[in-house]
Amino acid sequence: PSSGRVFSGIQPTGVPHLGNYLGALESWVAMQGQYSSVLYSIVDLHSITQAQDPQLLRHSILDMAASLLACGIDPNRSILFQQSQVSEHAELSWILGCLTSMPRLRHLPQWKMKSKQKNEGSVGLYTYPVLQAADILLYKSTHVPVGEDQVQHLELAQDLARIFNNQYGEFFPEPRALLSTTRKVKSLRDPSSKMSKSDPQKLATVFLTDTPEDIAFKIRRAVTDFTSEVTFDPEGRPGVSNLVSVHAAVSGQSVEEVVRLARGLDTGQYKTLVAEAVVQKLEPIRLEIQRLRADRGHLESLLTQGAERARALAAPVLREVRQRVGF
Ligand code: ADP
Ligand code: NA
Repeated sequence: PSSGRVFSGIQPTGVPHLGNYLGALESWVAMQGQYSSVLYSIVDLHSITQAQDPQLLRHSILDMAASLLACGIDPNRSILFQQSQVSEHAELSWILGCLTSMPRLRHLPQWKMKSKQKNEGSVGLYTYPVLQAADILLYKSTHVPVGEDQVQHLELAQDLARIFNNQYGEFFPEPRALLSTTRKVKSLRDPSSKMSKSDPQKLATVFLTDTPEDIAFKIRRAVTDFTSEVTFDPEGRPGVSNLVSVHAAVSGQSVEEVVRLARGLDTGQYKTLVAEAVVQKLEPIRLEIQRLRADRGHLESLLTQGAERARALAAPVLREVRQRVGF
């Protein structure tokens, strides 16, 4: 494995969907064998930048832990932990916040999108990317898997590493983005937008806990167009092309191979094939989530162990930071 250290975080927003899996989690699993050290954090501090119901949040954290484990995140090959259990994140975030100018944050995507939706936003939402920078730098991470939408946030982490190093002496490596190369999974009901957990249309999103029947039903209702042949043309035919690229991704085949397989089928018949391929990929994950969810004590203890291991890496880094800052 490469000598780098990978860090990535995911908000505890309940069970992930097919887009999260293909766009992020599948590569998280693969990275466990590719880097000498890998940390994945359930970033609950980030999630409270918007109002959360405490019961539901606690539940969602364990659901996310179960989901990550079921996808193949292996506590023996990576450190899986809950962000708020390692208080060093919050402390480094404060220090980095003091190195960040107000205007630097104003145009970052999280604030622009979410504060507009609510017409106002908390200080926490505004400094959200500073906390992300702290997450990454706290472990002196070198590689950060991100979606395209997060590139600007990673650039802030890079800037803050540089600013800190300039002010207090060379210390943080500059973290590099590992950009997801998978095509965004589109909403099944509106292929002009991406699949998202917050899609109000119930049939638009496939979740990792969907049964084979749920999946078949949703894919059968997926929006296509008036051409019955199966072709790959994301601009002209976004609906059927989304099915093709999902099919390719879940079956590990190329788009060309999948289109060849679909020859002679109309889009209606093709949907059955896609649903089967998605079920084949997701069914073992669904069953494993179900199994893991049944034992909350086990999940909690795995997270406690993960936090201890994360803290063992974070504490010496923060100690050094504090010293350099003059505490
Ligand atoms: P959501 O859009 O449902 O709120 P998040 O923003 O929490 O999902 O994204 C978590 C991870 O999943 C990120 O790495 C993001 O890039 C990836 N992701 C989210 N939606 C999709 C999608 N439709 N296709 C591919 N990757 C996605
Ligand atoms: Na999002």
